Amino acid sequence: MHARPFTPRRGFLALIISAISCLIVFAYCTMEGEAKTRNTTVDAHIDARLAALERHIERMHESKVYPDVRNLNYKDRKRILVTGGAGFVGSHLVDRLMLEGHEVIVVDNYFTGRKKNIEQWIGHANFEMMHHDIVNPLFIEVDEIYHLASPASPPHYMYNPVKTIKTNTLGTINMLGLAKRTRAKLLLASTSEIYGDPEIHPQVESYWGHVNPIGPRACYDEGKRVAETLCYAYEKQEKVSVCVARIFNTFGPRMHMDDGRVVSNFVLQALQNLPLTIYGDGEQTRSFQYVSDLVEGLILLMNSNYSLPVNLGNPEEHTIQEFAVMIRDIVGGSSEIVTKPAVIDDPRRRRPDITLAKSLLGWSPKIPLAEGLARTIAYFRKELAKSVEPIRPLDLAATPGS
Ligand SMILES: NC(=O)c1ccc[n+]([C@@H]2O[C@H](COP(=O)([O-])OP(=O)(O)OC[C@H]3O[C@@H](n4cnc5c(N)ncnc54)[C@H](O)[C@@H]3O)[C@@H](O)[C@H]2O)c1
Repeated sequence: MHARPFTPRRGFLALIISAISCLIVFAYCTMEGEAKTRNTTVDAHIDARLAALERHIERMHESKVYPDVRNLNYKDRKRILVTGGAGFVGSHLVDRLMLEGHEVIVVDNYFTGRKKNIEQWIGHANFEMMHHDIVNPLFIEVDEIYHLASPASPPHYMYNPVKTIKTNTLGTINMLGLAKRTRAKLLLASTSEIYGDPEIHPQVESYWGHVNPIGPRACYDEGKRVAETLCYAYEKQEKVSVCVARIFNTFGPRMHMDDGRVVSNFVLQALQNLPLTIYGDGEQTRSFQYVSDLVEGLILLMNSNYSLPVNLGNPEEHTIQEFAVMIRDIVGGSSEIVTKPAVIDDPRRRRPDITLAKSLLGWSPKIPLAEGLARTIAYFRKELAKSVEPIRPLDLAATPGS
């Protein structure tokens, strides 16, 4: 093969081609350089924003001061689910469990609960809040379940009786299913209402009750009775570890101010100098426990090996008339006491026999009634002062079946 002779034309073409190649390489390098500079600028911008975020988080933590919690080690720290944890009793239980150093998950649909009740823990590393209706299944990992979700006062549970039944039946099945899957222990917050209008007095756990199955309170009373039945069916059939607290009337700060219950109605009326309304002759009796005593009992029961129902309540029994006078005296007003017709299915007498709780858990209520009432009245007074409108007590005569 002969080499082609070099001509000036060929030389010129070679020069042009190498110049173009150089230009391409130069343009490529310049573009790459620019892209690098651009990326570096973006990175620097993100870095600056992340650094600002870190400073913000630090400031946030400095400004949000959480109550001191115990520093439990991995072995002792449990993941505890509290259903209905944004409610009255639930939020006090959450406080106790958080202070003890556990990881607490609250599940609530806010039907009667308030975020405000648990705001002290929102953002804490050990705390999680889930907006969820327990009528739907829940898939999380837990070690213990305190199952409290259910409306508890007559106007609330009668507002939507079908939903009350669903919450106590389907909701309880879902929570027992979760307990089965995660091998968690479940405590059911049952109620003295399962005794209905009792024929024996005081009520012992072995008493089967006297409930009207078709009355206006049945959605709650029978709902809780089925919830108890479900617990023992899951225990027997599925080996789920359960315990059942039969809770008697409880009062304290964070209770609903306008739910028509005896304590809330009398306190609201006395604080606003309105007449104190008694439904019926006032000779019917009730016994009230302070909320911190109940919380103590619930935790002791969860940590015990006993699985049959246990009464938790204060055996100190008073007539409704006596309560009215006591509350008026502590408030210091001059409200008169008036009577209205009795409400349907209102039990005549209610007093727990707590022999079992005493012997089994070493538990009995500690807070004297007068002290508990004084703390509750102070809470109501503060809430009333914050409220722009007067908070009127619920008129039970106007609430069908209450
Ligand atoms: N307070 C008492 O005197 C008393 C007496 C006996 C039994 N109990 C039982 O104790 C538990 C707590 O009562 P409380 O007085 O704190 O009542 P509450 O109404 O203040 O609290 C109940 C909580 O459950 C939530 N809830 C209701 N339905 C739900 C659902 N479907 N899904 C998720 N969350 C739901 C509510 O939003 C609320 O936060 C209840 O199970 C009640 O039956 C209470």
